[in-house]
Amino acid sequence: MKGDTPQVRGVVLPGAFHPLSDTWLLARAGCRERLGPGARILELCAGPAFAGITVARSSGAHLTTVDVSRRAVVNARVNALLNRVAIRARRGDLFSAVAGERFDLILANPPYVPGQRPPRSGPARAWEAGDDGRAVLDQLCVAAPEHLRPGGVVLIVHSEVCDAQATLQAYADGDLAADVVARERGPLGPLLRARRTELEQRGLLRPGQEEEEVVVVRGRAPNAVVERGGAMLATVPRARSKVG
Ligand SMILES: C[S@@+](CC[C@H](N)C(=O)[O-])C[C@H]1O[C@@H](n2cnc3c(N)ncnc32)[C@H](O)[C@@H]1O
Repeated sequence: MKGDTPQVRGVVLPGAFHPLSDTWLLARAGCRERLGPGARILELCAGPAFAGITVARSSGAHLTTVDVSRRAVVNARVNALLNRVAIRARRGDLFSAVAGERFDLILANPPYVPGQRPPRSGPARAWEAGDDGRAVLDQLCVAAPEHLRPGGVVLIVHSEVCDAQATLQAYADGDLAADVVARERGPLGPLLRARRTELEQRGLLRPGQEEEEVVVVRGRAPNAVVERGGAMLATVPRARSKVG
C-alpha cells in the first residue's frame, strides 16, 4: 500500500520502469475520478501499468495501455492478469496506437527529465525528455483532447521543472478545463542533481534549489453538445485555466 492508494499486486520485469512516488500520485488522482459503467481508461507511457491497473481495479473500467517498450507491454499484461483487470496492451508511440479512439480517462506519467534528447531505445527512453523536459509532454497535451469522450478527463503527472503552466495552457488551447489537482514536494532526483549547474544556468532550476514539486495536471473535455430547437448548447462552461 502506498499512502491511501488501493492495493494492487504486480511485478516489474527486467528493463521495465520501477514505479515511483509520481506513479502513485497519478494513481490516487485517477481513483478520485468518477467513472460510469462501461468507462474506458487509456494509460499512455504505461510501463508496468500500476497506475492504470489501480484505477481500473477500483472502478471496474476497461483498461488500454500503450508503451514504446515491448517489455513494458508484456509487463502490463502480466500485472493486469495478476489483478484480474481486463486489459488491451499495445506497443506504439503515444496515441498512434489508438488512432481514432476516445476514452473517459487518460492517464500518463511520461518521460519528463530535462537535459538530453529522448533516445531511440534503452532504459533512458523512460525519462529523457529533451532540453526543457517537454518533448513527450507537448505531444500528449496537443493530442489528448481529440481522444477524450465528452466530459472525459486527462491526468498527466510531471515535475514543476518542466512547467505546469505550459501544460495548463496547452489543455486550455485544446478547449479543456484545466487545473492542478495534486502536488507532492520532494528532494531533487539524482539526474536533476547531476544536471543542476546546467539547469540553473538555463533557468529551469532556481539557484540552490534542493526540492521539486511534482504535479498532476487535469484537463476535462466539455460535456456533450446538445441541440435544442436549432440552438447548440454546451452543457459545461468553456475551458478555464488556473494554476491550482
Ligand atoms: C517515466 S516511465 C513511467 C512508467 C509508468 N507509467 C509508471 O508511472 O511507473 C515512462 C514510460 O514511457 C515510455 N515511453 C517513452 N516514450 C514513449 C512514447 N513516445 N510512446 C509511448 N511510450 C513511451 C517508456 O518506455 C516508459 O515505460
